[in-house]
This record gives sequence, structure tokens and C-alpha cells, in this order.
Amino acid sequence: MYTAAQQKQLHEQAKHLLSTHDTSAQAIPLLREVINYADWKYYIQSESVLSDAEYDGLYKQLRLAEDQHPHLITPSSPTPRVAHGLSERFPAVSHLVPMLSLDNTYNADDLTDWDRKCRELAQTDTITYCVEPKYDGASISIVYDADQLTRGATRGDGVMGEDITINTRQIKSIPLAAPLSTYGISQLEVRGEVVIHKQFFEDYNKQRIADGLAPLANPRNAASGTLRILDPSEIRKRGLNAILYSISHYTLAPGAPRPQALSTHYDSLQWLYQLGFPAPAQQMKVFTHIDQVIQYCADFEAQRDSLPYEVDGLVIKVNDYALQDKMGMTSHHPRWAVAYKFKARQATSILRRVDFQVGRVGAVTPVAKIDPVHIGGVTVSSVSLFNEDVIREKDLRIGDTVIVERAGDVIPYIVRSLPDLRTGTELPIVFPTDCPACSSALEKVQDEAAWRCININCPVQVVERIIHFASKDAMDIRSMGNANVQKFHDMGLLPDIPGMYHIPWQQVKGMEGFGEKSIANLIQAIEQSKTQPLHRLIYGLGIRHVGETTAKTLASAVAHITDFYDWDTEKLTTLPDIGPKVATAVVDFFARPQNRQMIEKLDAAGVNLINDHRSQPTTDGALAGKTFLFTGTLSQFKRSDAEQLVEARGGTLLSGVSSKLHYLIVGTDAGSKLEKAKKLGTVNILTEQEFVVLTGMISNE
Ligand code: IVH
Repeated sequence: MYTAAQQKQLHEQAKHLLSTHDTSAQAIPLLREVINYADWKYYIQSESVLSDAEYDGLYKQLRLAEDQHPHLITPSSPTPRVAHGLSERFPAVSHLVPMLSLDNTYNADDLTDWDRKCRELAQTDTITYCVEPKYDGASISIVYDADQLTRGATRGDGVMGEDITINTRQIKSIPLAAPLSTYGISQLEVRGEVVIHKQFFEDYNKQRIADGLAPLANPRNAASGTLRILDPSEIRKRGLNAILYSISHYTLAPGAPRPQALSTHYDSLQWLYQLGFPAPAQQMKVFTHIDQVIQYCADFEAQRDSLPYEVDGLVIKVNDYALQDKMGMTSHHPRWAVAYKFKARQATSILRRVDFQVGRVGAVTPVAKIDPVHIGGVTVSSVSLFNEDVIREKDLRIGDTVIVERAGDVIPYIVRSLPDLRTGTELPIVFPTDCPACSSALEKVQDEAAWRCININCPVQVVERIIHFASKDAMDIRSMGNANVQKFHDMGLLPDIPGMYHIPWQQVKGMEGFGEKSIANLIQAIEQSKTQPLHRLIYGLGIRHVGETTAKTLASAVAHITDFYDWDTEKLTTLPDIGPKVATAVVDFFARPQNRQMIEKLDAAGVNLINDHRSQPTTDGALAGKTFLFTGTLSQFKRSDAEQLVEARGGTLLSGVSSKLHYLIVGTDAGSKLEKAKKLGTVNILTEQEFVVLTGMISNE
């Protein structure tokens, strides 16, 4: 889509625009071009060519320019992606051609049968099959007229769908315009699946749980729910992506010849990809024999978890369009395509009991205890029910037979109960009215599904707050995990967060499991935490709605934590990505005398409250825009030092191998991560020495 020279030029132009802050009419086309280029790079090629701040800067610049020159606004400008106002509901629209479903196969025999039928129908023995992932999300149909995106629709009943154009425009991987007319195409309809990145889904849910909201059940539900939400700006926050897996219809301009690529499915999707559409170009394989397809299906299923998106099978399609036409379709599915479904990651169990757990911010979460079942390689016996509404909506009862699903690394959840199996002895689940930990009356917070214990001294909340403060992503006090915090708190040795720095070690000495060495280690870890960068402290304080990213934003905005005592919501909302909800929570937190006292005590204990250079995200280091992961034992560095080095030089650390990963640095005894990266084929695999060269610390001459 862009040549290397064009990319270099666009990158330089982006930097130039940023330095000049140009918002003139002349700058508008260029601003659009560089933003579209950055979107394409990020969403199609999984690479960041601009830092978040730079991207936001260009975006604001374009908005400003368009505000000043409104007559230059066009429907394909990247800014109208952010739609104004909310729609009441989505009108129904009819699809240009019906959106059919797929027939399913489950094993090699099914596939062999299907291949035989295909050859009979096509009246040939030489069929080429194209195999691609079956993405588990929500189907979407997108129409382009005269090179512009004109409509996005859900599948609906296959004939009529909902018009979700406004939300489709929020999915940045979907181009708003494409040069289709240069290929003689006046109208194009493409179909695909809207998906949520698994990592994004997990992070999003972590944040929801931290906010006391129910996490979304799985990436599939999250994608389909998000497509229909009425607030388009919320959609952007949920990291939706689209993968377009077919051209369902096109109209040629009068007299235009059919483009050569539109003869086979494979070539069509490669062509779409070249035009900048998010087609699964690299995930498609072509085979001429069903046995090869069967082998590929088995291999692929074994590594399904290594993909960044949830995949529930593979789709096998006859590659040649002329053969597809010959084979036709039933009213339900095409005869030229079939899904090969992976083994279900569901199991049934019995719901025996429900426990109610109090979290760090007081939300009471019901947790179902079920008969242990083996799903997707782990035994599940405890499943969160999230909140009271979920129990009501699913009509769950004690004694019910329930279907439990666990997809990939996603937390297990109860899909539904099986009411037909009820015997009449099932009992309703009664939600407590008082806190199970401190007996204060629970309160329902407006607009939230959770019941909350609002007693700030509730012992469970206090312990959870200390655990969070010491946790790896916060102050990272090793060995101060759940068990030790609970034990010290129960013994009265660790009453609150500042108490961490005044544990009477004389009393700990001699306690079972606490030898001199382990106490020395604990003391050292606590001591070290005093010098943690400010953003870790801010995250560790457990301010509602403040996750790690927000904590970094906050830390980089002040010189000292107490500067926030003077900040109001208006000032806070000028910071990137801080909305009124977070701002209010921050203001409330710093206004409370108890919290100010806590900060004073931390100060007196010598904890760092100052924003030093480490809090500032680096965007211009040697590793800026690149992602890293370490595996195996390193010989020149401690793992944590190497990781710090990456961050100090502007790189980002990832927790697993995915298509987003640029570099895997391999020490000795590397295991599955290396295998995964090799299979993926897109990751640069470096030795420790090569990494050192890359960081710019030494040259490799
Ligand atoms: S082809 C007429 N290809 O699976 C052809 N479908 O019941 C129909 N899906 O919800 C679909 N990945 O949205 C096709 N690579 C892929 C797919 C795919 C996911 C979904 C599709 C539909 C369901 C099929």
C-alpha cells in the first residue's frame, strides 16, 4: 500500500507538522494523509510509527484546522470517525446479498465427506481450497460507494441487519475511503468479523474490576455488545478491530473490465489487503488436497491460543469463484465453504454454593462454587458471577446444572443454566444486605451493578488495599503477597499502607516460616520500594478508576504528589485520556483528610513522592515504538534491569508472544515463547548481545 520511500516521507511530514503546529487550510490534506498512514501502520501492520502523544497531537491539529475551515470537511476525513451525538437506536437495513451462515465440520471424516461432495458438485477432481481462521467475534457487512464508506451493518437475521455505520467508523482498521474506482469498481460490499484483541480485553476487564464494574464475559460478547452500544466514543476505548474475510458483492462501472484479482478468494483478499483493508492476508493458506487441509487444521488447533484474537475454528473455502458459483448455496449456507470447529471449551457442572467476596473498593462479588470440571487444560471449581444482575439475568439457582466456558486465557464464566434439568429442589441465590466482612449495610451505587460496603475501615478492604499497594505492578514489594499481608494484618503488625514501613520485626522474628534470611529479604524489598517512581505509588494508592496507564499520566503531570491537593476536575480533564469520572475520583481521593494523612506518613517514612525522570514515558529513545519480551536466563543482565533498560530507551514491554511483538530476546533455556515466536514468523528473535547492540549501548563493530 505504501512504498518504503513513501513511508519515510510521511513519517518526516508527520514530524514536521507536529513541530510547526500548522492548522492552515493547506495542511489539512497532509494531516489526513499522515493520520491515515499511522492508522494503517498500527491497525494493519501492528506497528506504531508515532507515539500516542504524537498521534493525539496530529489528530487535535486536524480537528482544529477543520474547525477553522469547516467547508473543507469531507466524509472521509479521519476526524468524523468521532461521531457527534448519540443515536437513539439503529435503523434496520437490508443487505445487498443475504449474509449466510456456515455448515460445520468437527473432524477429519467430516472434512473428507465434504471434499467428496464438493468434487461431485463441481464436477472436477482438482479443487484448490483456501483455509483461514474462523474469528470469534461479531459479523459485519461494509459497503463502499464511489470510493467512500457508506454503510456498516450487523448480520441481524441475515437478510436485514442494523445500520451501525456510525460505530463502524470508529473501528480504525476499516478505511473510510479506498481507491476502488481506479479498478473500475463503483460499489463494493465486504464482510468480516469485528474482534477484540485478547490482551486488550484482559486489560479492559482488569480496569472494570478495579472500577467495581462487572467484567465483560468474553471477547466475542464484548465485540458484539460494543458494536451496538450507543455511545460511539466508548467504542474507541474498547479496541475493536475488524478482519474482512470476503467480498460479497461488487458492481463494475459501465464498460470496466473485471480486475484480474477477483477470480479467486485468495487473490481477492490479498488485493483488499494491498488496498489497505484489514484482510487476513498472512493467515490464509492454499492447499490442493483435503489431507493437507486436515493436517493444517490439526496443527493450527494445537496453537490456537498463540493468536492475538479469539479463534473458534478454521474456514475452508473453494478458492475459485467460478467453481463457487457452480456449486451454489442452500438457504442457510454456501456449499463451497465449511467451518472446521475446534473442540468446545465448555463443560457442564453443578452450582453448589455462592460465596460473597469483598474487594479493594468495597464491591461485593458473588463467586459460584461448582463441582470441579476440566476445561481447556485447567480444573475449574470457582467461577465469578460478577454481580447481582448477572445472577438475575441468567436465572441461576443453587443446585442448577450450568454450562461453564473458558476460552483461552480468559477467566471462566457461567454461560447459562439448564432449567430443563431442574428437579424442584434448587434454591434461589440470596444476595446479602450486609457486608460479609464487617456487617455494615451494603449500598448500591448509582449506575453500577455492584453492591458496595462503604465502610472505609472494613478489614477485608484494608487488607486488599495493602496487597494492591505491595503488588508487582504497584510498589513491587516481593514476598509481601496475600498470605503475608493477611498474616501481619491479623496479628496487628500491619494496620494500614504506611504501616508497611513500620513493621515491628522483633515480633516477626521466631514466627514460623520467618527465618533471619527471609526477614532480611522482606526488609530489603520494603526498603527498595521507597525509591519506586511516582506513578507506581499513585497506582498503588488504589484511587478508584486509576489504572497503571492513568497513574503514569497523572505522575508525569506534577512535580510532587501533593500538587494534586490544588488540582480540580477541570484541570485534571485537560490531561490526555482523563475524563470526568476519573477526575472526580482523583479529586475526592486527595480531598479526604485520611488520605492526606496517609501521604504524610509515607513521606515521613521516606517513600518517594517526587516525579523524577523515570515517571516520564520516553518516546524518543533508541527503542521508541518497539515492543519487547525476554525469555530464558540472561547472562549479562538481571531480567528486571534489562526490562528497565527497554523502558528507559522508549520501548514497551509485552507479557506474551503475539503479532504485536517486535523483538523476543532469548537467553539460555528458552522455552515455549521462543517456539511460539518462531511459529508466528513475524517476531525478530535476538540474542542478548544483539539486544545490547540494538539499545545503542555499544556498536557491533
Ligand atoms: S465465511 C457465506 N469466513 O462465522 C460465507 N465466516 O456462521 C459465510 N466467520 O458469523 C462466512 N471468520 O461472521 C467466513 N474467515 C471467515 C470467518 C467467518 C468468522 C463467522 C461469520 C459468521 C460465522 C459463520
